Amino acid sequence: VVPVFLILLGATATLQVDLLPDKKLLLLPPVNFTIKVTGLAQVLLHWDPNPNREQRNIKLQYHVKINSPQEDEYDTRKTESKYVIPLHEGFTASVRTILENSHSFLASSWVSAELKAPPGAPGTSVVNLTCTTNTAMNNRTHLRPYRVSLLCTWLVGKDAPEDTQYFLYYRYGFWTEECQEYSTDALNRNTACWFPRTFINSKGLEQLAVHVNGSSKHAAIKPLDQLFFLHAIDQVNPPMNVTAEIEGTSLSILWEKPVSAFPVQCFDYELKICNMKNGYFQMEKLTTNKFISKIDDVSTYSIQVRAAVSSTCRMAGNWGEWSQPIYMGGEQKPLAEWFLILLPATICFILLIFSLICRVCHLWTKLFPPVPVPKNNIKDLLVVTNCEKTGSNETEVEIISYVKEPGFEIFENSMF
Ligand SMILES: *[C@@H]1O[C@H](CO)[C@@H](O)[C@H](O)[C@H]1NC(C)=O
Ligand SMILES: *[C@@H]1O[C@H](CO)[C@@H](O)[C@H](O)[C@H]1NC(C)=O
Ligand SMILES: *[C@@H]1O[C@H](CO)[C@@H](O)[C@H](O)[C@H]1NC(C)=O
Ligand SMILES: *[C@@H]1O[C@H](CO)[C@@H](O)[C@H](O)[C@H]1NC(C)=O
Repeated sequence: VVPVFLILLGATATLQVDLLPDKKLLLLPPVNFTIKVTGLAQVLLHWDPNPNREQRNIKLQYHVKINSPQEDEYDTRKTESKYVIPLHEGFTASVRTILENSHSFLASSWVSAELKAPPGAPGTSVVNLTCTTNTAMNNRTHLRPYRVSLLCTWLVGKDAPEDTQYFLYYRYGFWTEECQEYSTDALNRNTACWFPRTFINSKGLEQLAVHVNGSSKHAAIKPLDQLFFLHAIDQVNPPMNVTAEIEGTSLSILWEKPVSAFPVQCFDYELKICNMKNGYFQMEKLTTNKFISKIDDVSTYSIQVRAAVSSTCRMAGNWGEWSQPIYMGGEQKPLAEWFLILLPATICFILLIFSLICRVCHLWTKLFPPVPVPKNNIKDLLVVTNCEKTGSNETEVEIISYVKEPGFEIFENSMF
């Protein structure tokens, strides 16, 4: 149960008499102004009309002002108001009575209330909290066709004690849930959380509230609230069933909308056709799920598509992941091309082996210290010519220098 902090101020109003054109019209401030936490990052402001109202025939409304953590103001005729905002730095608001549609020209004094910041040592709360949502298909027996997963990651506060443990909660609408699947760092502290299925409505406009608090034996851990717009954190799936077909010099590509609660008409696509032969990219922005491109028949093409929910259906978000590439074309003469690739590769490989053998010789002389033995000039010559045959200039130089070393006979013996 959430604690409620209540501070009532200025119930006895000091009226702004000098502002009033008609001194009989004294507006009295509302009474019993309270701020109550009704959920993660969510408060309910409530007040009562002043019981000592004189002119009953005048229409009144209220001017609400949020002072912290972020300034905001609005008018309302109701006597309560829900407000969604991070609460880890506390919350203060004021309200006053105004004449209906007067744009606060005539106003009572303010009454204010405050919600204290929750306790916690500085630097102990998590930092860099990021969350993403993703939609997957539910199985056929399930009532709802889609399920939305949520993944959040964060970094441990720089001054959090080693025994700190963090806990993550999310709220979407009226639904609040604690994380069950944490990932931990080397000190066993939770640093990520995975909800395989949530009550988040992927088409909803409400913000997702995430709350991370913690506990430690050595310090009070400061909690953190963060709000996320779904369009900004939704990881859109890649389009499904991407297929392509070549007819002469035209390449026609087809795909289906991604797994998503949004209908077919809600997607923008980006198509990437890459010519594997010359590396040339063709990028297309599309709202249809078909595209026909002109190609030459000697190249191989890789084709990928990605999707984003279009701004006709919700606020612009990010592009999703690219689909797995599919490869088309260029299959007519694979043998000749493979030969051209394989031949130089084989030559390079052989050269590499030879140069490696020579390097091993070098290592050998280092491992076994020189034993002075009378030199055999004919053998010297043999070794030099042998390594020269490997062809590489580099190894040639190396080998010649070994020959000058007194101990090369050992290496010589091992070679022949
Ligand atoms: C203000 O609150 C008190 C105590 O809860 C209550 O008795 C009183 O009726 C309220 N005032 C108004 C005008 O509702
Ligand atoms: C965390 O966020 C801060 C500020 O937003 C940024 O400067 C820093 O690079 C981030 N750290 C990591 C590890 O991402
Ligand atoms: C389908 O979903 C229901 C409800 O979540 C679950 O109980 C059931 O085991 C699932 N069936 C299969 C085959 O996964
Ligand atoms: C963390 O927040 C949740 C939800 O507000 C609360 O139930 C829980 O007691 C808090 N835990 C700690 C350690 O503060």
